[in-house]
Amino acid sequence: MNTLLSRLNGCAVAVAVSVAATVAAADDFRLGLLTPPPHIWTKAAEAFAAELAEESGGAHNVTVFPASQLGNEAEMLQQLQTGALDMAFMTVAEVSNRAPDFGAFYAPYLARDVAHAGRILRSDTAQALLEQLPAKAGVVGTGFGMAGLRQMVSRGEVNSAEDLAGRKIRITPFAPILDFYNAIGAAPTPMPLPDVYDALANGQVDAIDMDAELIWVLKYYEHADTILQSNHMMFPMVGLISGRVWARLSEEDRAMVGDLMARHVDSTIDTYVEAEPGWLDDLKGVGKTYKVIGEDFFADAVEKWNEIWSKKSAALAGLRSVSQETAN
Ligand code: BEZ
Repeated sequence: MNTLLSRLNGCAVAVAVSVAATVAAADDFRLGLLTPPPHIWTKAAEAFAAELAEESGGAHNVTVFPASQLGNEAEMLQQLQTGALDMAFMTVAEVSNRAPDFGAFYAPYLARDVAHAGRILRSDTAQALLEQLPAKAGVVGTGFGMAGLRQMVSRGEVNSAEDLAGRKIRITPFAPILDFYNAIGAAPTPMPLPDVYDALANGQVDAIDMDAELIWVLKYYEHADTILQSNHMMFPMVGLISGRVWARLSEEDRAMVGDLMARHVDSTIDTYVEAEPGWLDDLKGVGKTYKVIGEDFFADAVEKWNEIWSKKSAALAGLRSVSQETAN
């Protein structure tokens, strides 16, 4: 069993628990996530469900609800806290609303490439952050996954960061990402995933912040002129179990459910490390201007972000050390 789960196993989860109220849901877990059915996170959730059913001899069944069927992430996190939802695979961005230390994962250029992002997420320092979640969010974090690194897709030409100034750029609606685009001088426009394609198509936004998989699979490039391979941020995910559900599981079941979930969220890291270069290559051939840019492109925006988040997240310095230690 991984270290965090064994520690949580031995002590009471720091949430108020009404055991009797939740016993009825014992073996039929519901797992929510915002990604659509063909997405890598959804496939990992389904693989987790299948393996748990098999390993538990049918005692534990998980029904996966993709595409925000159970609500947006803020709503799902609330449901996890009350025990109305059992499990979720969720962006770390949402969790950072409750536990700001997690915002440190979004430090621009913390990871030099997607494999490096994976090493940072698998570090003991990153795993230790999960210990905050029972007290801060009423959930148990089993482990980290990810959706690769962030890129940009823009209408019109983009030759410098000044070309992004004042432009409406769709972002995932969370503070660390907002702060980055504000630091650039852009007009960050928070928008959930399902609204992005139409917003770019009809010019409601000028550009989007997105990962390579979705730019390719959902064809976001169709209504854009420029693809910027910026690799500017990692996009981590976390596997969550309601603290109320966790509290009523036996030690044996915690080990089985927690470890299996951790394994499946972690498997998404390998998937992105393997597949991301291919999506980026495919995007080079779609007939748009394709530019590879780095930290220099953003001038002092990265420094500004670091200044803001060194005050907001006590975890930033530790993750920076891990980043240096795991750079090669
Ligand atoms: C996004 O909001 O861009 C996003 C959310 C989940 C997975 C991938 C991308």
